Amino acid sequence: MGLKEKLAQKIVEHRPRTTRLLKEFGDVKLGEVTIEQCIGGARDVKCLVTDISYLDPMEGIRFRGRTIPEVMAALPKPAGKDFPYVEAFWYLLLTGDVPTMAETMEIVEDFKKRNKVPTYVYDVIKALPKESHPMVMFSTAILAMQKESKFAKFYEEGFNKLSAWDTMYEDSSDLLARLPEIAAFIYRYKYKGGNIIANPNSDMGTNFAKMMGIDAPYDDVARMYFILHSDHESGNASAHTTHLVASTLSDAYYSLSAGMDALAGPLHGLANQEVLRWLQDVITKLDGVEPTEELMKKFVLETLDSGAVIPGFGHAVLRKTDPRYQSQREFCEKHLPNDKIFKYVDMLYRVVPDILLAKGKAKNPWPNVDAQSGVIQWFYGITEYDFYTVMFGVGRAIGVLANITWDRGLGYALERPKSLTTAMLEDVAKKG
Ligand SMILES: CC(C)(COP(=O)(O)OP(=O)(O)OC[C@H]1O[C@@H](n2cnc3c(N)ncnc32)[C@H](O)[C@@H]1OP(=O)(O)O)[C@@H](O)C(=O)NCCC(=O)NCCS
Repeated sequence: MGLKEKLAQKIVEHRPRTTRLLKEFGDVKLGEVTIEQCIGGARDVKCLVTDISYLDPMEGIRFRGRTIPEVMAALPKPAGKDFPYVEAFWYLLLTGDVPTMAETMEIVEDFKKRNKVPTYVYDVIKALPKESHPMVMFSTAILAMQKESKFAKFYEEGFNKLSAWDTMYEDSSDLLARLPEIAAFIYRYKYKGGNIIANPNSDMGTNFAKMMGIDAPYDDVARMYFILHSDHESGNASAHTTHLVASTLSDAYYSLSAGMDALAGPLHGLANQEVLRWLQDVITKLDGVEPTEELMKKFVLETLDSGAVIPGFGHAVLRKTDPRYQSQREFCEKHLPNDKIFKYVDMLYRVVPDILLAKGKAKNPWPNVDAQSGVIQWFYGITEYDFYTVMFGVGRAIGVLANITWDRGLGYALERPKSLTTAMLEDVAKKG
C-alpha cells in the first residue's frame, strides 16, 4: 500500500476518536488559565492537539512515540550512510509507521516527479534586493508558488470536509519535494555568485548536499539536520503559526510561508545564526588568544549585563539539555572533535548553565538545538550563518506540513482563542 492509501486508512480509522472526544467529553477540563499565562505567552496552556510529536519537558521530543535515537535506528538508510532517508521520516510522521525500504523508495521516486520548481519562483527571488535576508527569499518563494495549490483549486471547485486532506497532502508533498532546491538556489545565488548546481534527482539529503556543492558526509548532515529540526509538538511559534493559518482553510503555501516568518525570529529559529554570530564576536575579541573558561564566563556575563540573551540556551518547554543538541554533539565528537568552534561550544556548555542558574531568571539553563547546529554547518563550509534558519525551515516544513495534512483529515476547527482587556484582568484579579 502506498503512502497516500495508508494515510487515507489511518485518517478514517482515527476520526471516530476525535468525534467521540468532542461529542461525549467535550466539556471535560484540561486545566485552568492564569493571568500569568494570559500575559506570558500562554505557556503550558493545554489547548492544541497533535499526534505527530510530543515534547516532554524532561525527556525531550518523541516523534510518533519514538525518541531521536529510536527514529534514527528504525528508519531505512541509504547504503553506507549513518542517517535515514528524510522521505522515510515523512512517512513515519504522516502514518506513525516505519516504512520498509520499498515504501521509502516509492516516496523518493514520487518526490522526483514533484520536485520541478517553476522558473518564476527564481525570478521572484532575483527581483528581491540581494541583501534581503535569506528567510525573506525563502518565505517569498513559498508564497509565490501559491498559484500551484491543488487545495485552493479544490476549495474553489466545491469544498468537502471529508476529502480536504487529499489536496493538502498533495500540496505538502509538492512543497517538500521542492524546498531543498529552493533553499540551495538561495544559497548559491546569494553567496556563490549565482553559480547554480542542477538538482541530481536523488533522495532529499543527497540532492541538497549536491546542490549546495558540498561533498559527503554533508548528505548525511542534511538528513540529520532536516529530521532533527522537523517538529517540536504544536505550540512552538512556527508550528502554531502554520496550523493557525491553515485553520482558516488557507492552503499549504500560505500556511508554510507564514510559519517560516515565525521561524525567522531570534527567539525561535534565528537563534542558530545568533549562536555563530555571538561566537564569531568572541573570537574577534579574543584576537588570537586561546580562550579559557574564565574568559568565556566574562563574555557570557558581558552579554547578560547588556540585556541580551545567550543564544542557544533556555527553552519554553524543555527543562533539560535538548536531545537534539545531544545528537548533534555526538556527530561533532565523531566528525569534528578537534574543531575550534566545537571546542568553544563545548566550553559554553560547561560555563553558561551555572551562570544562568546563578542569575536565577531562566527556567531552563541548558542548551537547545541551536547551540550546536551552526558549528556543524560552519565546519562543512557554510560560514554564511544568516542562511542557517533556511535549512531549519526545510526541516521544520516536514513536521508542520504533516500536521496541517492531519488538521484537514480530522477537520480541526478555525482557531480563535478569546482575548480580554487589561481592565477585565484587573477585575478578575480583584475578585480572585
Ligand atoms: C527560548 C526562550 C525564548 C524561552 O523563553 P521563556 O519561555 O520566556 O524562558 P524563561 O521562562 O526561562 O524566561 C525567564 C527569563 O529568563 C530569561 N532567559 C531565558 N533564557 C535565557 C538565555 N538563554 N539567556 C539569558 N536570559 C534568558 C528570559 O529572557 C526571561 O527574562 P525576563 O523575565 O527578563 O523576560 C529563551 O530561553 C531564550 O531567549 N533563549 C535564547 C534564544 C534561543 O536560544 N532560542 C531558541 C529556542 S529553541
